[in-house]
Amino acid sequence: MNTPMSSLENFPHFPVMMSEILQTCNPIDGGLFVDCTFGGGSYTKELLKHPKTKVIALDRDKTAIDRAKIIKERNPENFLFFNEKFSNLDKVISKENKPNAIIFDLGLSMIQLQDYSRGFSFKSKAKIDMQMGLSFLSAEEVINTFDEKTLKLIIKIFGDEQEASKIAKNIIRKRKSKKITNTSELVEIIEKSKKRNYNKKINVCTKTFQALRIFVNKETTELIEGLIKATQLVRDGGKIIVVSFHSIEDKIVKYYFKTYSLNKSNPSRYLPSTNDKKISFFENYQNKFLTPSQQEMIRNPASRSAKLRYVVRRKEGFVYPDNFRIKFKKYLDLENINDK
Ligand SMILES: C[S@@+](CC[C@H](N)C(=O)[O-])C[C@H]1O[C@@H](n2cnc3c(N)ncnc32)[C@H](O)[C@@H]1O
Repeated sequence: MNTPMSSLENFPHFPVMMSEILQTCNPIDGGLFVDCTFGGGSYTKELLKHPKTKVIALDRDKTAIDRAKIIKERNPENFLFFNEKFSNLDKVISKENKPNAIIFDLGLSMIQLQDYSRGFSFKSKAKIDMQMGLSFLSAEEVINTFDEKTLKLIIKIFGDEQEASKIAKNIIRKRKSKKITNTSELVEIIEKSKKRNYNKKINVCTKTFQALRIFVNKETTELIEGLIKATQLVRDGGKIIVVSFHSIEDKIVKYYFKTYSLNKSNPSRYLPSTNDKKISFFENYQNKFLTPSQQEMIRNPASRSAKLRYVVRRKEGFVYPDNFRIKFKKYLDLENINDK
């Protein structure tokens, strides 16, 4: 369906931690800002309110293109948009024009979650698709073609689901009689598999849906590659800012910022000795993070799990951070299992 521009613009959408993002970016004196996750465009629009700022925005979702066009019409000189994944940041940012800040607001937008035709929500009763864009595999293909062991690993590792084994077994059993195509069929399988709900605060389907979404969109691969590219591209004294929403994302960001900062602790003796052990890309990082204000959490309960972390780039050459990839090899190998 082609949605009219005006309704796209008026879509109810609460940007997460907007004031904290603006305070961290400090766009008042101008500069180049990269919004790696354009979404509804809220961060971009706020940054562009400062006349001397320029914004380059990316989003892998093609539905973002029309929203970006509206902003481009109003800011023809100061704004560029690319329908691109942030793991390819180096394709759209030149090494000559280094950004003051590179921002990642991870995960799904409300626009994506509430578009039930895309199958991200367990409430959707639509085809189990879950592709954000520029991916090669739908959740439907994963559920109907992957072997039991791999399905179990995906649900266990990316969903931290205690009953991953049972859910994977029941998916295999069900698909022998009929292809599983609809989210309501998957919901039924999960509900049957999970006799007990250990965490009453979250829906029994949340973890499995999160796991499939992370896998289909290779979200940990994207984050790791995106952070490395941002490190190569941001200017000395510039910032890399990440808003994360779940523990896997936060673990990756925290590890990267800590391990490659000036005040890093001694490198783990379990990691191979690679060149990057001595490298400090970032100024001191004290493991600090910001969370949304009470008012924001009341206004937008979905913001509750958000954590904002940022680092400041030092004047230090770039060496590929091999240990970062080695540390999260388990995620990278699993997400890329189909490419071998
Ligand atoms: C949480 S929303 C961002 C919301 C945005 N900050 C706003 O205020 O409107 C995340 C967006 O990032 C996009 N995205 C997620 N992973 C991406 C990736 N690897 N590369 C590019 N875009 C990505 C999603 O398609 C989604 O539109």
